[in-house]
Amino acid sequence: MESQILVIFGASGDLAKRKLIPALYELSQQDLLPEKFAVLGVSRSALSDEDFRERMTEFLPESRESSPDIETFLQRLSYFTLQTGEAAEYERLKRHLEELSAATGIPPNTIYYLATPPSLYEVIPRCLNAVRLCHSDEGFRRLIVEKPFGTDLSSAQDLNRNLLSYFREDQIYRIDHYLGKETVQNMLVTRFANGIFEPIWNLNFIHHVEITSAESLGVEGRGGYYDHSGALRDMVQSHLLQLVGLVAMEPPVVVEADAIRNEVLKVFQSLRPITPDQITKHVVRGQYIASTIKGDPVKGYRDEEGVNPLSRTETFVALKFFIDSWRWGGVPFYIRTGKKLPARVAEVVIHFKRPPRHLFQYEENALTNYNQLILRVQPDEGIVLKFGLKVPGPGFRVQTVNMDFHYDDLGNSHLPSAYARLLLDCMQGDATLFARGDAVEEAWKFIQPISDVFASGLDMPIYGYPAGTWGPEEAEGIVDDANWRYPCKNLSNDGTYCEL
Ligand code: NDP
Ligand code: BG6
Repeated sequence: MESQILVIFGASGDLAKRKLIPALYELSQQDLLPEKFAVLGVSRSALSDEDFRERMTEFLPESRESSPDIETFLQRLSYFTLQTGEAAEYERLKRHLEELSAATGIPPNTIYYLATPPSLYEVIPRCLNAVRLCHSDEGFRRLIVEKPFGTDLSSAQDLNRNLLSYFREDQIYRIDHYLGKETVQNMLVTRFANGIFEPIWNLNFIHHVEITSAESLGVEGRGGYYDHSGALRDMVQSHLLQLVGLVAMEPPVVVEADAIRNEVLKVFQSLRPITPDQITKHVVRGQYIASTIKGDPVKGYRDEEGVNPLSRTETFVALKFFIDSWRWGGVPFYIRTGKKLPARVAEVVIHFKRPPRHLFQYEENALTNYNQLILRVQPDEGIVLKFGLKVPGPGFRVQTVNMDFHYDDLGNSHLPSAYARLLLDCMQGDATLFARGDAVEEAWKFIQPISDVFASGLDMPIYGYPAGTWGPEEAEGIVDDANWRYPCKNLSNDGTYCEL
């Protein structure tokens, strides 16, 4: 891989120390960083190189005193104080980068990572452009942008337009960390590397598709941000629709960034809009209220710091929708996500159609279950196929059993963290697992009408659900002829309750 410099804007913040630096250290431990590689942290706080290194150790697996590897890794880090929002400052940054390049022997291959509040996503590229730091004949220049990619359709379009004024689309890497998860990528392999799944991956065999991303945590100090966002925009517009894209896409012609992303775009273009008059039948939103979990009182969302005490922001949302394509015509997709649910679990469940006739006697629960293929994204990553088996003994009674694979069973193989995988891909110039601008806008076109109804006042109910439960029971009502799966932390077990 080519030698390069990673410039992190907003380096004094939470994302840098919690996700980016640990991911880079992981790459370093796997020997995946280029031999010549430097990280330059940039933000307004006055920090020395040493202060910055010390700050960045907080989420590393060991202390720098106890691990020589960490100390060696930290020597790649340095820091530059910059009034990030002031264009006049960027000549200094340019000079500093030239000096760093000369001192390290790294050619001007540069990745800029925008780990700042989104209000700077237009400002920083403009300032970089003003001092000719966006393009170079001598090396590559790439830009990584963190979500949120806009807060609605028009701001997403503005953001794309602005970014494209300074960088070409092939230089822009919009990071959606769900695409960096190993099991999300494995969806492509499960579908397109096996002869058994793809022939039945369509409306003829699939009854419905269910996608869940549940979190047991609440807003965890991010109340100020979250209260202006909500589950629909925070999770569905980005992570969950990306999962839908991979589950529903057609086979790409080749495994290349644009071939794959073209297919994802077509899925988003085929999403049937949910019109305002259908919304209460297709969408349920909820907000967690105070409860007691394992004997401990848990506060409700409205009591969280930074949250409006009268907030109507949803911490749970469930949707039913359709994809108007030849493959999926008439197959309902159900997705739900929420905070303060009973477990942290994300999974895609393909529910296959039942056999046309029931010949046998079914054990309790077996009849109601369709054959299910469960792709567990986290935790306990793996795959389960659920099917009917004869109960041993007299007669022909059927029970549901599991055939399962757990990534843990692979023994020593390392499951990279999402940020490590995505940073490495960007360093190698592979944009396959990054969201493309047109797809982001298309996803917003689907979300916007729902978001407008949410924002429009009191017409649409928001249901309270006690923290630690699976969301409002009204969510049951949007699923036809089936029930949501209530997954437990362990891939192979499910039921209607969970350990909290
Ligand atoms: P922070 O709020 O911690 O901000 C990062 C840094 O940006 C701050 O340390 C600050 O550094 C600088 N900054 C803040 N306000 C301004 C300003 N007005 N002008 C110039 N610089 C400013 O953000 P996070 O690190 O939590 O997140 C960074 C981005 O990543 C955000 O857009 C967030 O939405 C996104 N994100 C974060 C996740 C996370 O886990 N934290 C997860 C997913 C996305 P200084 O004052 O030194 O300049
Ligand atoms: C982030 C959201 O993008 O994803 C958070 O802003 C959410 O609200 C997080 O908690 C979930 O990510 P993960 O990897 O823990 O499922």
